[in-house]
Amino acid sequence: MTKLEFETLLPAAADHALAYLRGLPDRPVRATATDAELRQFLGGRLPDGPSDPEQVLQQLVTGVDRGLVPTGHGEYFGYVVGGTLPVAMAADWLTATWDQNCIVHDISPATAVVEEICAEWLIDIFGLPRATSVAFVPACTHAELLCLTVARHHVLAARGWDVATQGMQGAPEIRVLVNGATHAAVIRSLQVLGLGGGIHHLEIDDQSRIVPAALRAALDEVGDAPLIVCGLVGDINTGGIDVVGDLADRVHDAGGWLHLDGAFGMWAAASPTLRPQLVDGIERADSWATDAHKWLNTPYDGGVAMIADRDAHLAALPLLAEYLNMQPEHRHPVEWGMEVSRRSRVFPIWAALRSLGRSGIADIIDGCCRNARRFADRLTGQPGVEILNEVTLNQVLVRFDGPGGRDEHTRLVAEEFQARGEGWAAISRWNGRIVLRLCLINWATTAADVDAAATSLLACHRAVVTAGNGTAADAGAAR
Ligand SMILES: Cc1ncc(COP(=O)(O)O)c(C=O)c1O
Repeated sequence: MTKLEFETLLPAAADHALAYLRGLPDRPVRATATDAELRQFLGGRLPDGPSDPEQVLQQLVTGVDRGLVPTGHGEYFGYVVGGTLPVAMAADWLTATWDQNCIVHDISPATAVVEEICAEWLIDIFGLPRATSVAFVPACTHAELLCLTVARHHVLAARGWDVATQGMQGAPEIRVLVNGATHAAVIRSLQVLGLGGGIHHLEIDDQSRIVPAALRAALDEVGDAPLIVCGLVGDINTGGIDVVGDLADRVHDAGGWLHLDGAFGMWAAASPTLRPQLVDGIERADSWATDAHKWLNTPYDGGVAMIADRDAHLAALPLLAEYLNMQPEHRHPVEWGMEVSRRSRVFPIWAALRSLGRSGIADIIDGCCRNARRFADRLTGQPGVEILNEVTLNQVLVRFDGPGGRDEHTRLVAEEFQARGEGWAAISRWNGRIVLRLCLINWATTAADVDAAATSLLACHRAVVTAGNGTAADAGAAR
């Protein structure tokens, strides 16, 4: 192994990357390899000795190729998967090149300072209280865990109980109320924190918003107990958002902590058009979890945890080892999150924020919402097609009717859409029904992509109807 290998491997990697990106529009929007094929090309016994690095890189590129899902394709609408801005991708390559560990300031002053800058910018575009503390974590699930760790510590500390030194056994019982559509990431975090027993799922309306009367009744019943409430800013199915300002006021009147899961929906706060309509008062919550790798379109990983009370944040993360040189005048990334060694995941976030600026960020958010409405409009009124949600954000829930009944037919249409490789959408379950869910969150998706995908989806629907009628007729003839 020689340092000169960088000279050949990095240009080769750049060539491979460009070839992949240039070919993206022509790829089927799904993986086409079986696991066995992937294993055959990439597996086998670990070699006894070294192999030529250039050949290894080539083998990786060829071996994974058909097992990759082209999520950057303009017609990929699966799960909640953002694309990647070119500048963020380039910054991510450099992040790997610089290979900074960012435990404390003196191991990477650049990381510590860029984290401070991005924290200020995020607080600014989300309109959060100036003193809000920010941690850059792997993903929103980690952000939920961190925020709820702080919430747990804080509500118990207010009752004279220090969870860091006294643990959970014998602690005052914390009451936990969550939006009835709360994402599994929040539930998992609560469970990991020992708060999984007795989570109360609040009744929601058909846009996934907590019903005020249900909240009032639940809060009345809590009394003086320590309280954590988890609201939702962007339901994965409907895109629905709680009435967050009111929610914050009610939870605070009851002495509780309000955590908001805004994995993607938080970014509505960065749009001057959407903010007053959808997230008015969002700044009155106590903690917020979001992702840059979703709507800011940075590469993975880019979770962000934000906490209004920075003293509470620090108090919940007892620290650590004497060997760490932590001068008080500097930011030390390790103080704000659970990880000790980690990559400088903030550089791509800085590049995205710096290059887009306020209006560029708002344009992406507004553009995706426009695309979502356009998709819904293309499908609305077509025979056997129903849009189930009010498309206020970037999610569209569709249900199809056909020979096998709505559930079965919707599943078959989604499978046909996925199999054709002309677009990709997830099959989901919502209120006990099978639905097809479209997520519009990629900066690169154009109106033409939306139109092409809608045409393809309708063609799948008709093809499945025709096949189903044929089957029904055949079955009738056979009887
Ligand atoms: C509402 C919501 N919360 C939390 C998450 C979890 O985010 P991550 O996968 O980045 O951990 C998601 C993922 O889609 C989500 O939609």
